Amino acid sequence: MKGIILAGGNGTRLRPVTFVTNKHLLPVYNKPMIFYPLETMRECGFEDVLIVSGREHAGDFSNLLGSGKEFGVRLSYEIQEEAGGIAQALALAEDFADGGSMAVHLGDNIFEQREQLVAGVKKFAEREDGAMIFIKQVADPERFGVAEIAGDKVVKIVEKPKAPKSNLIVTGFYVYDKNVFEIIRSQKPSARGEMEITDVNNVYIEQGKMAYNMVEGEWTDAGTFDTLLRASNLVAGKKAVK
Ligand code: DAU
Repeated sequence: MKGIILAGGNGTRLRPVTFVTNKHLLPVYNKPMIFYPLETMRECGFEDVLIVSGREHAGDFSNLLGSGKEFGVRLSYEIQEEAGGIAQALALAEDFADGGSMAVHLGDNIFEQREQLVAGVKKFAEREDGAMIFIKQVADPERFGVAEIAGDKVVKIVEKPKAPKSNLIVTGFYVYDKNVFEIIRSQKPSARGEMEITDVNNVYIEQGKMAYNMVEGEWTDAGTFDTLLRASNLVAGKKAVK
């Protein structure tokens, strides 16, 4: 299994800070944001990690991270020419995945605890079949992919619903078997013009091949000014600050 970090996109919600810098290079407390998903990948035991980024800042990532030696991984890089969505960025990893399964980490997601992720990857590796998502209860589900769960099954995920049916959201860590690229090819862009990871996940759900785990500990994305601050506070150990 290999690790993939998606660090493309335009970071529009962080303008003007992201006019000349990529979101994932901004500091979360005392480190660039991208360090955190890299640490997750290392803890999952991946030797090979791919970073997908946009064209304008690709050089900054290789300047910062180099071969990955300091992080104990071997890094590869791919360029997403335009921010056409998370699933489009993932599609660029097909050669890298080389017919195997993979864990995918959105570059702006910060997990306080990684044990569930590491355990989920280990479990998935036993069969390498289907997909796995990691769910967290939040106060503002309408900003995310919202999961509807019945018993031990996810029945549906709705991307940023106006009236969420639950407060359980899908975090930005996913595990997929090799079929994910075929599924992405069968998808069309959403109304907002993006290839949605939620559409891909819903195909696995329809096929009865989606497993889920709950995320323990704090979690946040860091894609807005409020959540970027929250991420820094989280890392600094000030959990009370929302
Ligand atoms: O944070 C979890 C949420 O992430 C999920 O609950 C949602 O289902 C999922 O769609 C996503 O929602 P966001 O609206 O927060 O995604 P955003 O556009 O901020 O992109 C998240 C990361 O994905 C970003 O840090 C970099 C990567 N990305 C995104 C786009 C649109 C790319 O690499 N390329 C892209 O074109």
